Amino acid sequence: MPEADERDEKQFHPEIPATSAGFFLKGASGYDWGMRNRLARIFDPESGHTVMLAIDHGYFQGPTSGLERVDLSIVPISVHADALMLTRGMLRSTVPADYQHGIVMRASGGPSILKDLSNERIALDMEDAARMNVHAVAVQVFVGGEHETQSIENMTRLVDVGYRLGIPVLGVTAVGRELVRDARYLGLATRICAELGAQFVKTYYCEDGFEKVTAGCPVPVVMAGGKKLAELDALTMARNAVDQGAAGVDMGRNIFQSEAPAAMIQAVRKVVHEGARPEEAFDYYRELAGKSPAAP
Ligand code: R5P
Repeated sequence: MPEADERDEKQFHPEIPATSAGFFLKGASGYDWGMRNRLARIFDPESGHTVMLAIDHGYFQGPTSGLERVDLSIVPISVHADALMLTRGMLRSTVPADYQHGIVMRASGGPSILKDLSNERIALDMEDAARMNVHAVAVQVFVGGEHETQSIENMTRLVDVGYRLGIPVLGVTAVGRELVRDARYLGLATRICAELGAQFVKTYYCEDGFEKVTAGCPVPVVMAGGKKLAELDALTMARNAVDQGAAGVDMGRNIFQSEAPAAMIQAVRKVVHEGARPEEAFDYYRELAGKSPAAP
């Protein structure tokens, strides 16, 4: 039994009302504590933004260039990511269990690049996600695709179990070759993901009207990287996306296929977390990569 506490002076501070503020992320104030805590392991509470490093490509296209040896190419730079987006196979086989940053786990899959990619199923039991202590799961949603309804059902099933376990779901808007990546389509796809329960959504950037995509989505939007661009172009795209309302980026090839991946991810952080202009971040990239400054 603890001794009785008989002190008269207690630190209740009745003159200071307890704060009942919401949460720093859009749309997240009403979530349970565990779900908000997990989101705060992906999004930096100070900047409100995230730099996720996507390395899950192998789940449908095998050993992608830059990911042939994740232990050699990714593990050393993973400290610069707010969260790694990857499969459970790669996590368990290759990522040290003392990794301290966020984990966003690929939870859908099935078809390879040789088949119709929209024909995905849930590929992860949420109990296993909880066992791996992940901070969110990611599911592909193929709005307009052949298996649109199936992919949306994959997401809603994960959302249902996610609420029971406190694990957020990232809806990833997959754009088939036949679909146009304009603000109208991306606005449709992101909004559907949010309406049906995704706690955050990943989508591509579009030059015209991206601010309408982010404004029309009631939960945070993270920008997908897409195919490899020149470093300055990728940094410019990230700057534009964040300026137009994105809560961060989830980039893969534009980081791990860069000539200097460690330098590139740190330059992306400068843009996303510190508000750097693309040219400033590009100079930083060149400096870290041991290159001479860019010509004025
Ligand atoms: C997106 O659909 C998948 O999760 C990809 O494997 C990955 O996120 C793509 O990343 P990036 O296009 O930036 O290489």
